[in-house]
Amino acid sequence: MSRERTRTALVTGANRGIGLETVRRLERAGLDVVLAARDRARGLDAARTLGAANIRVEELDVADAGSVAACAQRLADDGIGVDVLVNNAGIYPTDPFFSLDEETLRRTLDVNLMGAFRTCRAFCPGMAERGYGRVVHVSSGLGAVSDGNIPSPAAYGISKAALNALTLVVSAAVPPSVKVNAVCPGWVRTDMGGAGAPTSVEQGADTVAWLALLPDSGPTGGFFRDRTRIAW
Ligand SMILES: NC(=O)c1ccc[n+]([C@@H]2O[C@H](COP(=O)([O-])OP(=O)(O)OC[C@H]3O[C@@H](n4cnc5c(N)ncnc54)[C@H](OP(=O)(O)O)[C@@H]3O)[C@@H](O)[C@H]2O)c1
Repeated sequence: MSRERTRTALVTGANRGIGLETVRRLERAGLDVVLAARDRARGLDAARTLGAANIRVEELDVADAGSVAACAQRLADDGIGVDVLVNNAGIYPTDPFFSLDEETLRRTLDVNLMGAFRTCRAFCPGMAERGYGRVVHVSSGLGAVSDGNIPSPAAYGISKAALNALTLVVSAAVPPSVKVNAVCPGWVRTDMGGAGAPTSVEQGADTVAWLALLPDSGPTGGFFRDRTRIAW
């Protein structure tokens, strides 16, 4: 009797913060999880804190196209298809517009936007072929344009607005069996959010994991906070 294959999720920037908590939730939900971190040693340390057997650690620097390709190749060589992709890796430079140098903007886009572009290009074709996929872009309300402004440091806001645009582009490019959504986790107590942030890491990862585990009837091409659709 054939047994249905366990779904595999890959979470980028997963050695700490919202990414690590998302790994924990997806593993508890019964998925095999690839904990991807740009520094393998830090990834292994993080995986050890979870103490779970079905977590595989992969080195993945989303800012490096070669690193994304090499990670995808290692997984393919081991017969692992990524069914759920959580693009969580991010950086938060705080320079206001007139202090922002080109290199900082380029680096921010390379991680926050191009990282998701690279992983979507690497893993979404396999999802489309297998007829199942979930993609979650960990974005931010600080990149929302619907209020007529970007209320955040310049490079970060630009990169998250662009990540929201990428969400819509990818969701339109894949079949309906692959659901592609963006999430604002709130202002979360992580290294990025700081100790004064009002939202716990557990709460911050809740909507991320919810979107990663959407049923076939779930939405695609949306932007969510607290499991509720919000304006782009
Ligand atoms: N915290 C908040 O209040 C908040 C609010 C809205 C949205 N977000 C978004 O939520 C996501 C996670 O943030 P967080 O609060 O958990 O931040 P965090 O604790 O600073 O974690 C960021 C993670 O991204 C990784 N990363 C950075 N550059 C990378 C690269 N080139 N390749 C792979 N991984 C890379 C970091 O790895 P290293 O350890 O190697 O640096 C780290 O694991 C980000 O996309 C962030 O923009 C956060």
